[in-house]
Amino acid sequence: MKNKPKILIVDDKFENLVALERILADMDVEFVRAMSGNEALAKTLENDLAIALLDVQMPEMDGFETVYFMRQDQRVKQLPIIFISAIYTEDYHQIKGIETGAIDFITKPVNPDILRGKVRIFLELYEYKRSLEEQNGIITSSHNDLEQALSRLEKAHEELTRSHEQLLQSQKLAAIGKLVSGVAHEVNNPLMAISGHAQLLLEDVEDEATKESLDVIYSETKRATDIVQNLLSFARTQKSKRSHVCINDLIESIAKLRTYGLPKSNIEIMIEFDPYLPKIEVDSQQLKQVFLNLINNATQAMKDEHGKGKLAIQTCRANDETVQISFVDDGPGISPEIIDRIFEPFFTTKDIGKGTGLGLSICYGIIQSHGGKIRAESIDGKGATFTVELPITNDELELAFYEEQLEFETVTAAGQPQ
Ligand SMILES: Nc1ncnc2c1ncn2[C@@H]1O[C@H](COP(=O)(O)OP(=O)(O)OP(=O)(O)O)[C@@H](O)[C@H]1O
Ligand SMILES: [Mg+2]
Repeated sequence: MKNKPKILIVDDKFENLVALERILADMDVEFVRAMSGNEALAKTLENDLAIALLDVQMPEMDGFETVYFMRQDQRVKQLPIIFISAIYTEDYHQIKGIETGAIDFITKPVNPDILRGKVRIFLELYEYKRSLEEQNGIITSSHNDLEQALSRLEKAHEELTRSHEQLLQSQKLAAIGKLVSGVAHEVNNPLMAISGHAQLLLEDVEDEATKESLDVIYSETKRATDIVQNLLSFARTQKSKRSHVCINDLIESIAKLRTYGLPKSNIEIMIEFDPYLPKIEVDSQQLKQVFLNLINNATQAMKDEHGKGKLAIQTCRANDETVQISFVDDGPGISPEIIDRIFEPFFTTKDIGKGTGLGLSICYGIIQSHGGKIRAESIDGKGATFTVELPITNDELELAFYEEQLEFETVTAAGQPQ
């Protein structure tokens, strides 16, 4: 329900206050009484007023002075004021702050019709102002709602575009995967035969030149077999062996393996592990392959660019459903023209014989088969960031929670004085 408009009536004589209220009795308003200038100032601060009716002649602080002080408050600057005076005077021109124009005069004895007429006009103005303010509030809040809806829409649009791109990418890779696995199976058998026969011949041959040629045949066949193995793991035809492991341990073992060869090459690996990472169900061998590929790519890129570099590996729980592992290097980065192609099989920028271009496509296949995501980001020239996200199940989350509790209790118990 709307509050009634409040009218402040100020007069040092109680009977005058009652008389004014009686004249305005049929109006749907609430009266706020004050019997001195000081009291009027206090009431002005406490109430949201529609109009003030002020007696001019009052002891201590007269009506003009009272209004002067009232106008110091911003909220009261626009308050319509009607002076009630026995003698008509021009003194009100001295009052600062009457520029609002909302000032009127009534002479005593008060003519009830004139007073009611003036009060009614000011009340109408007040109601009009109040409804304008309300509408303004509604407009502002609808405007805010609209802005929020717009930004939500923009976000949804971005998300949709991203998922669409991901869908295209995975459809493309799935089609290539099918083709590749068929070809790889067909090629695998003759390769095995060539490699086996080369080995048999190597055992009997005496002639050095023939031996050398057979060595080349054998080692090149071995290279081809490795490529086929990679193709098959990209197409994920091999059986996956899953167990609950802590990703931190996997990365640590891989990083250790890699650091043996790194000091000479000035490549520094910095690791930041989340100690409360829940164990998740993965194929350790496959994931090691992913992490090794990412570390190899980064170290090669940094070495080629400036002979040294820093690779930061970080694990964390992105939220209750995801473990996130990021690899941030300070190598050359990946240019926008090729960044969408790097997960395609055989895409490489390396020289012939130096890279097969299968590393990242294998990583993509493995992470997808784990229900996760892998993405690359790069500001050209400022290094590359590869982010792997792997899902956490509810059971895994609960288990991690109990383990955290247990560890906390053990530490607390150990810390208690004997
Ligand atoms: N950290 C990185 N910094 C810069 N470029 C990268 C990085 N990682 C990958 N790339 C780019 O992505 C391409 C594809 O990588 P991918 O691992 O699939 O194949 P490759 O490394 O070229 O070959 P292989 O993995 O068989 O040795 C690379 O040739 C390189 O251009
Ligand atoms: Mg690679």
